[in-house]
Amino acid sequence: MSPPIASKTFIRPFLKWAGGKYRLLPRIINGLPPGKRLIEPFAGSGVVFLNAGFKDNLIADANPDLIALYQVLQQQGERFIEHVKTLFTPENNEREAYYRLREAFNAEQDPFQRSALFVYLNRHGYNGLMRYSAKGGFNVPFGRYKRPLCPADGMHAFHHHARQTKFICEDFRKTLSRARRGVVVYADPPYVPLSETAYFTGYNGKNFSNEDQADLACCAERMAKRGITTLISNHDTPFTRKIYREAELTYFSVRRQISCDGRNRKEVGELLACFAADY
Ligand SMILES: C[S@@+](CC[C@H](N)C(=O)[O-])C[C@H]1O[C@@H](n2cnc3c(N)ncnc32)[C@H](O)[C@@H]1O
Repeated sequence: MSPPIASKTFIRPFLKWAGGKYRLLPRIINGLPPGKRLIEPFAGSGVVFLNAGFKDNLIADANPDLIALYQVLQQQGERFIEHVKTLFTPENNEREAYYRLREAFNAEQDPFQRSALFVYLNRHGYNGLMRYSAKGGFNVPFGRYKRPLCPADGMHAFHHHARQTKFICEDFRKTLSRARRGVVVYADPPYVPLSETAYFTGYNGKNFSNEDQADLACCAERMAKRGITTLISNHDTPFTRKIYREAELTYFSVRRQISCDGRNRKEVGELLACFAADY
């Protein structure tokens, strides 16, 4: 793998994704050592592996719709992108059409059709949220955007760069159990809440608990002893400082939208925890 270049132009994600790291790419990529394979157990928009420059990537996420979409786009490319384009019409940018297509998505079993609707919902739904009810139904309201654009260029870039990538839908513990000496792990779990009331349950209708966060830190500690470096992103809180106490920590702040209407932005403390391989 060639060393990352901080000033290069990065590939943009084609999905809107809560917690997406596009703007933090220079920091993250510079924090990743070279390795024979990159493993990302929390893929999200995929923007990190797309830009990190590893030849071999194992990319996982617990959201089955997300992983099915990546697999369909990887295998079907142009045919899939052309189909997605047909959903981006002025008629489909109406409230009634949105709710009809949302219902169609929730009833759809075919991965090709369901994945196309997933892209449509991501661009037409409120604030780009991908949120599910406890029963698993996608439940984001209509976004009322003037003219949502089909992310065809972004999908082409993804298709082009994801050729040598393996996508799996599973829990992060299972993905990390696949890691072998010499691989590099970048882990971007759902953020630890900044306050007790700020829990975000959007990705799959389930909370990512403090026990999950602590499990991830324990996995990273154990993997370091087996020659595997893990870099973890999270909020900077007393809890994360505690669970990442064995790691080398880098602190920084980012300006982030706090409320949904986009007016309320504030500085939020984040960190990168590097559990370096113990050779
Ligand atoms: C902060 S996002 C990752 C963002 C990504 N790095 C990006 O730049 O777009 C966290 C991801 O973790 C996934 N996730 C939540 N719980 C999980 C679990 N138990 N195992 C694996 N993935 C999980 C969510 O579906 C979500 O895509």
